Amino acid sequence: MKTIIEPFRIKVVEPIRVTTRAERERVLQDAGMNVFMIKADDVLIDLLTDSGTGAMSSEQWAGIMRGDESYAGARSFYRFYDRTKEVTGFDHILPTHQGRASERILFELLGGPGLVVPNNNHFDTTRANVEHSGAKAVDLVIAEGHQPTSRHPFKGNMDVERLEALFNDVGADRVPLVMLTVTNNSGGGQPVSLENMRAVRAVCDAHSTPLFLDACRFAENAYLIKKREPGCADRSVPQIVRETFDLADGATISAKKDGLVNIGGLILFRDAELAQQARNLLILTEGFPTYGGLAGRDLEAIAQGFEEVLHEDYLRYRLRSVEYLGEKLLAGGVQIVEPPGGHAIYMDATAFCPHIPTKSFPGQAVVCGLYRHAGIRAVEIGSLMFGGDGEAPEMELVRLAIPRRVYTQSHIDYVIEAVLELQAERDTLRPLEIVEAPPQLRHFTARLRELPA
Ligand SMILES: Cc1ncc(COP(=O)(O)O)c(C=O)c1O
Repeated sequence: MKTIIEPFRIKVVEPIRVTTRAERERVLQDAGMNVFMIKADDVLIDLLTDSGTGAMSSEQWAGIMRGDESYAGARSFYRFYDRTKEVTGFDHILPTHQGRASERILFELLGGPGLVVPNNNHFDTTRANVEHSGAKAVDLVIAEGHQPTSRHPFKGNMDVERLEALFNDVGADRVPLVMLTVTNNSGGGQPVSLENMRAVRAVCDAHSTPLFLDACRFAENAYLIKKREPGCADRSVPQIVRETFDLADGATISAKKDGLVNIGGLILFRDAELAQQARNLLILTEGFPTYGGLAGRDLEAIAQGFEEVLHEDYLRYRLRSVEYLGEKLLAGGVQIVEPPGGHAIYMDATAFCPHIPTKSFPGQAVVCGLYRHAGIRAVEIGSLMFGGDGEAPEMELVRLAIPRRVYTQSHIDYVIEAVLELQAERDTLRPLEIVEAPPQLRHFTARLRELPA
């Protein structure tokens, strides 16, 4: 069969509310043209993020009922531990309340002033935690990772020559670890190949430096390897996942992505001594090591999620629905970051509205236009999010992130129709200016206004 279906049927539904254009206009004005300030009830299709917004399965909900809430040694912890060990091969597994809590512990242990941490692209919370420790975060993604039209199959790869050069410049004693983010969220959800991971590992070995993964989307990365990397088509996803983790000395994971849950995180270590130090920090701010920052029921849901996310019919549908959205937009003349990555489609806002200069937030104009036109909430990843220091970011993007197992193909068709209609009337999109904004992370709470065209 050519048709790829959602490999589930729907048992519980959550109604979504259709609003009028006049209502949405009022909502937008009240929100200061900032979709983070809009109530979710006023949104029809919410593509703000894929993090923690997925739907759990009936088995996961059953796990919620089975959760053992004992303070120490809960049965649910051992279920979580056994499943995570089976999937990743790691012995030292600590639960945290979400990915950034894992990052905070990792960089409290390995970060510090004067140190340099390379990554393909740091996600914003990872960068913030590296910098909070006093270390410097350096992004070393390959050049193709910055070019929206490049069809390189692994645009999340790290530039291995630049990694070598960094070691030579600063000295291995100032590089406490190397990180790889799979898939590369800040770089368009693009995958990292096994070949690249092995090459990065070899550089780390040459300098006796540990390699850690930011592995939130490990299953999506593995499926893209299966589809795109020569020699991997006949390997199973669990095998590819296992090889990915085998190449690393540790990992931070936000379970809100490929854990298929609404909250949760993990930190994994190969080294027993480092793991013990992390456990001590975990007790300080998260909780006892057999629950971390979570309830027993959450651990059950993650254990089940880590099984379901590796089913190939799920991953086929998941990656295909993102690709389908990307292909239809491209066919309609909308420039996206090519090829489609794992969890989102990123539209090139500079190409979408060339009449709006970067300083007047073309990405945010598209985000507001989509909400006004069709009640769809996307997010700007461009000069509003990253331009606070006065420098324009390399790409001006609008991200349509797809929650897992939430929307059907007709929802995606609606999104395609809305984007193409908006494109047809893109001349009506207006420049924006900031009215008020906080000094940091301004995109969350800034208020803006539209200027005359
Ligand atoms: C690549 C990456 N790393 C880390 C995080 C942080 O995870 P959390 O939101 O669970 O703290 C995210 C969240 O979106 C992410 O995409």
